[in-house]
Amino acid sequence: MCALLLAIESSCDDTSAAVCRDGVILSNVVATQQLHSEYGGVVPELASRAHQEKIVPVVAEALKCAAVDKKELDAVAFTIGPGLIGSLLVGTMFSKAFALALDIPLITVNHMMAHVSAHFIDAPLPQFPFLCLTVSGGHTQIVLVKDFLEMEVIGETIDDAAGEAFDKIAKMLGLPYPGGPLLDKLAREGNPQAFRFPEPQVRDLNFSFSGLKTSVLYFLQKQPEGFISEHLSDLCASVQKTIVDILLKKLHKAAKQYGIRQIAIAGGVSANSELRRRVQEMGAAHQWSVYIPQFQYCTDNAAMIAICAYHKYLKKDFADHSIVPKARYPIASISQK
Ligand code: KG4
Ligand code: ZN
Repeated sequence: MCALLLAIESSCDDTSAAVCRDGVILSNVVATQQLHSEYGGVVPELASRAHQEKIVPVVAEALKCAAVDKKELDAVAFTIGPGLIGSLLVGTMFSKAFALALDIPLITVNHMMAHVSAHFIDAPLPQFPFLCLTVSGGHTQIVLVKDFLEMEVIGETIDDAAGEAFDKIAKMLGLPYPGGPLLDKLAREGNPQAFRFPEPQVRDLNFSFSGLKTSVLYFLQKQPEGFISEHLSDLCASVQKTIVDILLKKLHKAAKQYGIRQIAIAGGVSANSELRRRVQEMGAAHQWSVYIPQFQYCTDNAAMIAICAYHKYLKKDFADHSIVPKARYPIASISQK
């Protein structure tokens, strides 16, 4: 079935639009909101206002880059949740208006499902079933991926997400928001064995990161002045190693428990160089086939929304205009729809 789709992502602080023809990404434009760094974190009200300003030019740019006229589009897809409600509303209202004006169907996409779908953009595609460790700023999940649209969360964080741990600890170290990528960079110069932080004991395939955050805080409070700047790269490397250890231990446990050797990582934290290196290393040791997304498809982007929407389009899984976004939106509520 021929499908030319426009997809919109506006769940947090990136305004993004992508155009996709028959499952092939033609354009993917991302406008990241810089304004939050001076506040040390995303300010939801400012994020929604910035989405309002950027959404029209970002969509225009995506159509232009794809050399597509809006009248050619077959459907409009957008992120329905999870995310910041004000930010989600901007993408939702824009998409509804766009679909109404062009008289084309609407497709809703779950943001966490779309992170996994980043693996369906380019070959080689993982074989079903595969396990995906989806690590972002708001979520940490191990997902059993049975098909393009059939996914089950088999483990998740009971408190903070991995990206949140990176960002909050980076903030304690005096790094600007978002600290994750900067901590990654500084860690390259540091010794990961320099400091030891405790790993949580969490049952099953679940994670916890709030204890690590607290133990780093208490550790830093006990140190003399100037300690952080003197040991910055060692601190970054040690924290990063602990987070990656926690993630990979559970991923390994899940692979063993489910007898699955097709392993993927996704989400903003999958851009982390140590996680990328270590999952490859672990894969080689356990004969896994490891799938790591291109950098541009790790952090929030509309290409992943478009590819997920393409599979829904093939099933004619369209949404009614009465649908509303939700800040919390478990994967199951989409696949059971
Ligand atoms: O998936 P994403 O773009 O947005 C959400 O859906 O939350 O993930 C953003 C998260 C942030 O916490 C950011 O610090 C983290 O991904 N992140 C990283 C790296 N790049 C992005 N964390 C560690 N190392 C990185 N290189
Ligand atoms: Zn995300």
